[in-house]
Amino acid sequence: MSNPSFSAVPFGSEPPSAAALSAPPLAELPVDWANQVRELAAERNAVILAHNYQVPEIQDIAHHVGDSLALSRIAASSDASTIVFCGVHFMAETAKILAPEKTVLIPDPDAGCSLASSIEVADVLAWKADHPDGVVVAYVNTSAAVKAEVDVCCTSSNAADVVRSIPADREIFFLPDQFLGAHVRRVTGRDIDVWAGECHVHAEISPSHLREVVAANPDTDLLVHPECGCTTTALYLTTTGDLPAERTKVLSTGGMAEYAASTKSSRVLVATETGILHQLRKAAPNTEFVPVSERAVCPYMKMITPAKLLRSLRENWFQIEVEPSIAVRAKASVERMIAIGSPSRGGE
Ligand code: 13P
Ligand code: SF4
Repeated sequence: MSNPSFSAVPFGSEPPSAAALSAPPLAELPVDWANQVRELAAERNAVILAHNYQVPEIQDIAHHVGDSLALSRIAASSDASTIVFCGVHFMAETAKILAPEKTVLIPDPDAGCSLASSIEVADVLAWKADHPDGVVVAYVNTSAAVKAEVDVCCTSSNAADVVRSIPADREIFFLPDQFLGAHVRRVTGRDIDVWAGECHVHAEISPSHLREVVAANPDTDLLVHPECGCTTTALYLTTTGDLPAERTKVLSTGGMAEYAASTKSSRVLVATETGILHQLRKAAPNTEFVPVSERAVCPYMKMITPAKLLRSLRENWFQIEVEPSIAVRAKASVERMIAIGSPSRGGE
């Protein structure tokens, strides 16, 4: 399959959405905001979920911190009547798909994802028309409308297991992340069509930059998120001896948190969005975690702030809705994802 072109919308180039323009005014953050958040959450029977890339204050106030898969699992099984999703839009949408009877809130509806916006429904339908017996695997970083058209979803922690679960004689289309797709192709040995999408934050962690950082930090462990532009290079460097294979790990953010909980290493390089460092440092205070790129900051994740979280609980804003006919079909793909692979760390 030839690599299709795509145009992820660069951050900041879009005007605020109609939803964001209708937002209740944002009050100044009170000193006791954390107590107020906890009290409101208790009153409302709400659970606060935070992705590993959220700002530290949000991670610390959340009931659960984790990666996409762990948070989806919690959303699906929680007894709370309201889920406040401190993450990006597709994550909150996934929670609503899994728990349609619950109120699902995201504190800023414009917290999007450049990777999710790199593919549209028409792109999926075009591949399916050419491959009527093929199987479409979608990374969870996709809209509900795309999820509704695919066979199964995956996250970075179970992508390879999902592909291994597909019979060997079926063609596979993996979307939308080209670096995760290449990683899955490598570890499963399957001949997979991969969509040429990318996350603008992870794509910037380039092979040349990784080589420089590794050369300057010999004998250091390396954790790499599979969305990174440098994943292939990291694995190549293990074959040339520039990186020790046993100390180089390609992991989801939840996998990184699990690694930190048991590491004995004194210094570890981390190639992913820098928000994860907070969880890693909490789990292993005696280990020095060094970002491969200080610039790897997801502007969408950082749109969620304590003031917006408080407003969300006070004003019941912004409520995620997914059109029921889309939600039903998307749910089937997401539930297949949840059933495959071992649960990753869900945080504290
Ligand atoms: P994880 O599933 O590893 O948490 O990654 C989600 C994501 O959006 C990475 O950019
Ligand atoms: Fe999307 Fe990249 Fe941000 Fe993750 S880090 S939410 S993939 S833009």
